[in-house]
Amino acid sequence: MKQYKLLTPGPLTTTESVKKEMMFDHCTWDNDYKQITQDIRAGLLKLAHVDEDIYTAILMQGSGTFGVESVLTSSVGKKDKLLIAANGAYGERMEDIAKHAGIAYEIYHQDYDKVPDAKVIEKILEEDQTITHVSMVHSETTSGILNDIASVTKVVKAQGRTMIVDAMSSFAGVDIPVGDLGIDFLISSANKCIQGVPGFSFILAKKEALMKTKGQARSLSLDLYDQWETMNKDGKWRFTSPTHVVLAFAQAMKELEEEGGIPARSKRYYDNNREIIKRFKEMGFETYIDEEHQGPIITTFLFPQDCNYTFEEMYEYIKDRGYAIYPGKVTEAATFRIGNIGEIYKEDVEKLCSIVKEFLEAK
Ligand SMILES: Cc1ncc(COP(=O)(O)O)c(C=O)c1O
Repeated sequence: MKQYKLLTPGPLTTTESVKKEMMFDHCTWDNDYKQITQDIRAGLLKLAHVDEDIYTAILMQGSGTFGVESVLTSSVGKKDKLLIAANGAYGERMEDIAKHAGIAYEIYHQDYDKVPDAKVIEKILEEDQTITHVSMVHSETTSGILNDIASVTKVVKAQGRTMIVDAMSSFAGVDIPVGDLGIDFLISSANKCIQGVPGFSFILAKKEALMKTKGQARSLSLDLYDQWETMNKDGKWRFTSPTHVVLAFAQAMKELEEEGGIPARSKRYYDNNREIIKRFKEMGFETYIDEEHQGPIITTFLFPQDCNYTFEEMYEYIKDRGYAIYPGKVTEAATFRIGNIGEIYKEDVEKLCSIVKEFLEAK
């Protein structure tokens, strides 16, 4: 099959050395293997700038949604109430999780091209003292908008509530001072900005908040406390661990450090993102999100008014020449998305732009 690079928000293009790690069938009981899990957990705490006395890291089998579902269904107890701030499909997925699990919740909908307003959240919390937890997405991959988790966390913590952040597509691509902000639970996954492959999600949890979840999970396999308790003993996972994915992730973490850590990776993502936007604008495409709120992970572009081609035609043309782009996910406009996380460099941006230019000229 013809290879292509992924301009999607994960799974993303990984290095040969990350893929190579998966050639080894590791035993889960092995001390070496358990130590790899422990090293990953310690490394994640460093990336989040948190103190290991205050925070812990938990790895959870499954995709990113499993991590979000684990946190929501473990932390929001029977007597608690969740406020979800949603401005995209992943915020709305939290509502879906709450409905399935029978969690009491309130939802604050914001337009997909605007960020949830901390002042609105503050007012909702003042008026409804029964709300105990607040959740929101950082990088809303639906549109590419980067939400203001700092302002929201500030008002949530000032009112003594628990703050949950889905930083799936931003963690390690955008530097997040988790400890300074005081976020209680932050979720991301192996196949995003750390540039591993899909197979598990991870949760950074404030220990104080995690301890409160003991015995109240609404699911066996997604019980965050039990997962932590087992893993924390010696690095052994509670149920079968995705061994190949774990090995690949450990290598991906090494490569993140070699690149220069989050500052260097974040700069690469920002630079490539801004260059894509500049070049696409020159070709006549407008962005769905304004410059101030546009994140560095993925960009939603509007099809021009006089467009005489379909997304599928454009997709196939680009794919034949080595890159896979992403369809739009916002409902009220005709759009497509270009992701720029993973092993994507300046030369890929150059190539992509000349392919798109060539496609437009042929139309
Ligand atoms: C912000 C955000 N939250 C949640 C998810 C869900 O993750 P998954 O598709 O791995 O379950 C994604 C996936 O891209 C995401 O971008």
